[in-house]
Amino acid sequence: MESKIKKDITILAIETSCDETAAAVVRNGRTVLSNVISSQIDLHTMYGGVVPEIASRKHIENIDVVIQEALNEAGITLSELDAIGVTYGPGLVGALLVGVAEAKAIAYAAHLPLVGVHHIEGHVSANYIEHPDLEPPFLCLIVSGGHTHLVVVKEYGVYEIIGKTHDDAAGEAFDKVARSIGFGYPGGPKIDKASKAGNPQAMAFPRAHIDGHPNDFSFSGIKSAVLNYLNQAAMKGEEVNANDIAASFQAAVVDVLVEKTMNAARDLHMTTVAMAGGVASNSGLRTAMEEACKRENLTLVYPSLIYCTDNAAMIGAAAYYEYIKGNFSGLDLNAVPGLKIGERKI
Ligand code: KG4
Ligand code: ZN
Repeated sequence: MESKIKKDITILAIETSCDETAAAVVRNGRTVLSNVISSQIDLHTMYGGVVPEIASRKHIENIDVVIQEALNEAGITLSELDAIGVTYGPGLVGALLVGVAEAKAIAYAAHLPLVGVHHIEGHVSANYIEHPDLEPPFLCLIVSGGHTHLVVVKEYGVYEIIGKTHDDAAGEAFDKVARSIGFGYPGGPKIDKASKAGNPQAMAFPRAHIDGHPNDFSFSGIKSAVLNYLNQAAMKGEEVNANDIAASFQAAVVDVLVEKTMNAARDLHMTTVAMAGGVASNSGLRTAMEEACKRENLTLVYPSLIYCTDNAAMIGAAAYYEYIKGNFSGLDLNAVPGLKIGERKI
């Protein structure tokens, strides 16, 4: 007799868009059976940022081991998988190509369907992993190294961008300001830590609002304000308090992110707010967003730290919702470094 119970869908997901080589096994988009991340941060730290050629080479060296580890940890063999999910954009082209080529090879050899995933849609989908009740529609603030977007997740895999940055992404601003203060790479976590020992009111850095675009962001002004502050202090021979600069910069960025998210939630009558991307692990942002959502009676969700920054479990979550819609990719899937949210070139 045929079973009426819906079959579980188990996906091996691969992520190599930047400087983490990652593989994960995810069941039904929500249950993580394994999540292996091999970070290259130490390698890139001495250059003050990610060196694309080094990232690609390291991905090639690591990827087989990382995938084998993910399968072993999950206790799954290739024959027990239903699909291979892989990030195909946006990101560094050479880095993306390593994951895409690997995913295609496995899909071909193991006769499995291939699902190309948008990296940022993966970040949004990270929220499904630990919040079993989370379902669209919800508002999501995406704050990563390359993106700052406010999106409405209308249905699984359907995104409406309602706001975006006009210049730097939030993470980029954190990284650039950290470099100018002398904190080095990666800057976000270092500013977060230093902020805890600093006074957020020490300097009044600008909170940018863009005329006619209430949901859009701009972070280049605050970055310049920090640089001006540092240059003026250097010219006068004055010592600066790095913790105060970090805390004041972080407070200004967080203020804007929270205010715009709350305004959009109110305007669009959203009841649930999510956060996604590396900057969503910022402790100041988490606390401020918690307080604001409590005040506005909104449900707030965000991923644990390990699912905020780059990982493959989030790609497995996003791939599942494409899989159940039958959105498969061909073996001609290519890396698309500038892929836009909601745009599927497959
Ligand atoms: O999402 P992600 O891991 O990679 C991209 O897709 O870009 O985000 C990386 C960004 C970096 O700019 C990093 O400095 C920032 O996230 N970040 C943070 C924190 N942890 C990572 N920014 C602020 N506070 C943090 N705790
Ligand atoms: Zn990312």
